[in-house]
Amino acid sequence: MIILSVKTCSGLDDLNLLSSVCCYWSARVFIGTMPGLLLGDVFPNFEAETTNGKIKFHDFLGDSWGILFSHPRDYTPVCTTELGRAAKLSDEFSRRNVKMIALSIDSLEDHRGWTKDILAYNNEESGCAFPFPIIADNQRELAVALGMLDPDEKDKDGMPLTARCVFVIGQDKKLKLSLLYPATTGRNFDEILRVVDSLQLTAKNRVATPADWQPGERVMVPPNIPEEEAAAMFPAGVYTKELPSERKYLRYTPQP
Ligand code: BEZ
Repeated sequence: MIILSVKTCSGLDDLNLLSSVCCYWSARVFIGTMPGLLLGDVFPNFEAETTNGKIKFHDFLGDSWGILFSHPRDYTPVCTTELGRAAKLSDEFSRRNVKMIALSIDSLEDHRGWTKDILAYNNEESGCAFPFPIIADNQRELAVALGMLDPDEKDKDGMPLTARCVFVIGQDKKLKLSLLYPATTGRNFDEILRVVDSLQLTAKNRVATPADWQPGERVMVPPNIPEEEAAAMFPAGVYTKELPSERKYLRYTPQP
């Protein structure tokens, strides 16, 4: 824990700023001992062996967005349903200019054998190419460096398995979103597509998407845009919901 001694001169705002700075730096100190990435960090440009050959991550991404997701183990039931669903949605991710890549602590040989099972689970020909590469992290190096291990799920030797981690990386190679599920809970890949839609929309437009938003639905005007500016910024109109507090913060506008 870092303790900063700063003399503030203008009261609450400075204290809020100080508390945010302290939280940020204590998080940084914390991840010094327990690995982790923060939103906005440049994603590590790691090298890895994958089912499509050796890659350097930033070169692999090129100008695309990226999604890197880990799973606990090859030849396990939940992981098979997840990678099956991810494979079925691969055209949707490509349409959004998102490159997919999976990771687990298994070997290339296991990955190659298991992808045939995944294709069979999807009722596809076993000779079809699997639509995205899988990283072989049998030494757990990347899993440790990226904070992907689930301490509650162990293999037969008592070693932790990878959790169900999702990183979405922007075209600037910065981390835009991370999700971490335990091994026992499979992910919803429709939700991952939905968040990609929100991330891409909000990267281009100063809007925010509300709970359960779906593409095409109205979006929200962020609270840091003053009323006069909002009217000019969103010519399609801004609807402000009346609230008991009389504060005008619940503002909607059609999706730009
Ligand atoms: C599975 O993918 O089915 C699984 C893997 C590890 C722990 C629990 C479930």
